[in-house]
Amino acid sequence: MVKSERVKPFLKWAGGKRRMLPEIRACIPEKFGCYYEPFVGAGAVLFDLQPKRAVINDINKELINVYRVIMDDAEGLISDLKKHRNEKEYYYHIRDLDLTDSYHRMSNLEKASRIIYLNKTCFNGLFRVNKDGHFNVPFGKYSRPNFINERTIRGVHRYFNENDVTILCTDFEEVAEGAGSGDFVYLDPPYDPRSTTSYFTGYSLDGFSREDQLRLRDLFVDLDRRGCQVLISNSATSFIKDMYHNYHIIVSSVSGLINSDGSKRGKIDEVLITNY
Ligand SMILES: C[S@@+](CC[C@H](N)C(=O)[O-])C[C@H]1O[C@@H](n2cnc3c(N)ncnc32)[C@H](O)[C@@H]1O
Repeated sequence: MVKSERVKPFLKWAGGKRRMLPEIRACIPEKFGCYYEPFVGAGAVLFDLQPKRAVINDINKELINVYRVIMDDAEGLISDLKKHRNEKEYYYHIRDLDLTDSYHRMSNLEKASRIIYLNKTCFNGLFRVNKDGHFNVPFGKYSRPNFINERTIRGVHRYFNENDVTILCTDFEEVAEGAGSGDFVYLDPPYDPRSTTSYFTGYSLDGFSREDQLRLRDLFVDLDRRGCQVLISNSATSFIKDMYHNYHIIVSSVSGLINSDGSKRGKIDEVLITNY
């Protein structure tokens, strides 16, 4: 299948992988059956690969609702997005809808439109909720935010509908239950914190703990035993490197890619780990 340039991330997402795509592309297996991405986020790798068979997932309900609405009714979404205005007062009205009862009466399409609008007009474009689950990011004061990205929304709609793409919203452990020999699983979890003070827990109400990292390692080992090709990205902490020491670890640093056994050149940043 010819890949479409129109198919690309349309949300700003913490941990987005666009910047790291060259390194990730170099690690993608030449051949694989079904593609699984249990932590899809804004989908930089999914949209770059555009696999014919894919199972994608994220625990964030608002994000997955956006993908489902794009799959089902891209034109309805585009026309709803056109009602939004890049004005401070209007922004706070839309943002604070989730504090009111009317939020529960909104359709999935209206909810998706709200999230895309807020994502593009809020400060720094970070999806962040407070401890009560409300979106609490201030207005971003951008002069011309592009929240009606018709080309990309239509491109993603076509990609979802012309291929066999399943969209799930659950914990990562349940996503690749059907994966088997020759399938490819890309895991991009919230990163292990480099220091306790840098622990970023803004993805959802509860952060991703070290117990979750251990659960994920167990999944990696299980997928490996089942004959899947597995790639994981994470931060280059000793906790992560120790956990995966039996596998192939590539460290991505500012000075380029070096083997984990190599020297300490440059600022070591992230790891890509494969079982192949
Ligand atoms: C590093 S981001 C993924 C970034 C993505 N690769 C991209 O390019 O935008 C991690 C994602 O994991 C999701 N997540 C956090 N905990 C999860 C869990 N237990 N199961 C599935 N997804 C989870 C977050 O909502 C977030 O979107």
